[in-house]
Amino acid sequence: MLRYFPFQQQFNDKMGTMLLLPTDPLIEADEHYGHEVQLKRRLLTEFPQYYYQSLPGYQTAQWEVLAMVLESLVQHNPEHFCLTRPGHHWHWQNRLLNEEVVFTFGDAASLPLEPLDWAGRQVQEDLLLLAGDEPHLVAGQLCFGNGWSLDEKLSLSFWNLHGPVSSIVKPMMQAAQKFMERLPAGRPVWRLNWSLKLTDQLDLTSRHTADLNQQLAELLPNLTPTNIGQHLFVRIERQTLTRLPQSGAILFGIHTYQNRLDNEAADPERALRIGQVVSTTPPAMLEYKGITPFLEPLLAYLQLSVRELAEKSIH
Ligand code: HEM
Repeated sequence: MLRYFPFQQQFNDKMGTMLLLPTDPLIEADEHYGHEVQLKRRLLTEFPQYYYQSLPGYQTAQWEVLAMVLESLVQHNPEHFCLTRPGHHWHWQNRLLNEEVVFTFGDAASLPLEPLDWAGRQVQEDLLLLAGDEPHLVAGQLCFGNGWSLDEKLSLSFWNLHGPVSSIVKPMMQAAQKFMERLPAGRPVWRLNWSLKLTDQLDLTSRHTADLNQQLAELLPNLTPTNIGQHLFVRIERQTLTRLPQSGAILFGIHTYQNRLDNEAADPERALRIGQVVSTTPPAMLEYKGITPFLEPLLAYLQLSVRELAEKSIH
């Protein structure tokens, strides 16, 4: 079952940010840690300029991200990670990957990669950096993007980053933009985003869009209310937003979780709630999320699941 489940009684048109408490991890390392970090590293080795990009001039912010990420990993998983730092000499131990790294904090020459690129290879999260009074995307490592890529979005403002979304949920995005401009240091927040996909491929960056559309076209005629639960995946993004105290930049972290729909729908409450949200989502949003083509069998499947499970519990 998914550890985060953002489906309630109906489609939520609010930005849904919640305070990240000191006990809530900024970075989460779960049972998929090894697999996902190795996958990110493979992608980054194969296409370094596609999955990591940065504008010059944000080194302080990059080092702040590195420090926060490592500290969060250690605080919440002391059995797997260890950081000692006599002065500026940092000693990092990652027991899950069996790695030890020594570097000088703030000295770019002491790391093989830019600090954000290096830190991103220690975590499952995608890490994006925004800066400026009207925050712009200035750097990022994005391996598991859902239908977008750094090629398209680097250097764009928050509003322009959301080009296709802004007109669909305008009040939400206006509120979010103000929120971003005013986010104070020391008060990080998190929110959840959901989608339904016909694949469990983590890397859904734009270079795969044409192939995925082709797969969808082939699968679509065969989707029925009885088999769609085995083909669809619920994809959840746990997103965090943190103002960095020294540079004033904002770290945007995205941890992607997914589970096959029939596993989630085995819980009648979850099947009911997914159905309630999907059936109240505005048509333009369903179109944007790519759900419209399979909306009918999906809703029929969810109704069927709720009914069958209710009957079973009576007998
Ligand atoms: C409070 C903050 C935020 C809110 C409320 C928000 C909201 C949304 C929503 C509703 C979507 C549509 C996705 C879906 O529902 O399936 C979206 C997509 C997206 N968001 Fe955000 N977002 C926030 C922060 C950010 C930040 C900081 C970035 C920086 C990189 C970002 C980049 C994007 C991108 C690139 C997309 C995909 C747009 C596309 O399809 O071209 N978002 N966001």
